[in-house]
Amino acid sequence: MRITESLKIEHQLLRQMMDTMSRWMTEGVEPDKLRERAVMLEAAINCHAKREERQLYAPLNDHSEIAHDLVIMVERVHLEVRKLFEALADPTSEPKQLLPRIIDFTGAHFTEEETGLFPLAEKLLEQKALEADSPEASPHQEWDT
Ligand SMILES: [Fe+2]
Ligand SMILES: [Fe+2]
Repeated sequence: MRITESLKIEHQLLRQMMDTMSRWMTEGVEPDKLRERAVMLEAAINCHAKREERQLYAPLNDHSEIAHDLVIMVERVHLEVRKLFEALADPTSEPKQLLPRIIDFTGAHFTEEETGLFPLAEKLLEQKALEADSPEASPHQEWDT
């Protein structure tokens, strides 16, 4: 399976997690509980982002100047989302304000990747680089910090 395809599947799973988180907010789950549950969402999003940075952003970054500029932009989104999760971890934070920002920002980012960056990567990168997606190709790296 191509990297872009497996990343899209991860987007779908993460969208489901974000939908569940939105539902908990509308159901009036307490801020502390929302913060606790958001840790799982953070881990899942971070795991996806790291794999994406390693397997897609890095080869694209080296490809050309235009690709490099795009990578800079999307990396900023990853950084911004990490900062929002950091802010959320503060016990005095307002999950009901921060979580919708994380969810909207991340959802829009996924759509941008699926409609812009992934098709570009499929055009620019060699088939070999796109297929380098087997777990054997990068053992034990998914959860590295
Ligand atoms: Fe991303
Ligand atoms: Fe992504």
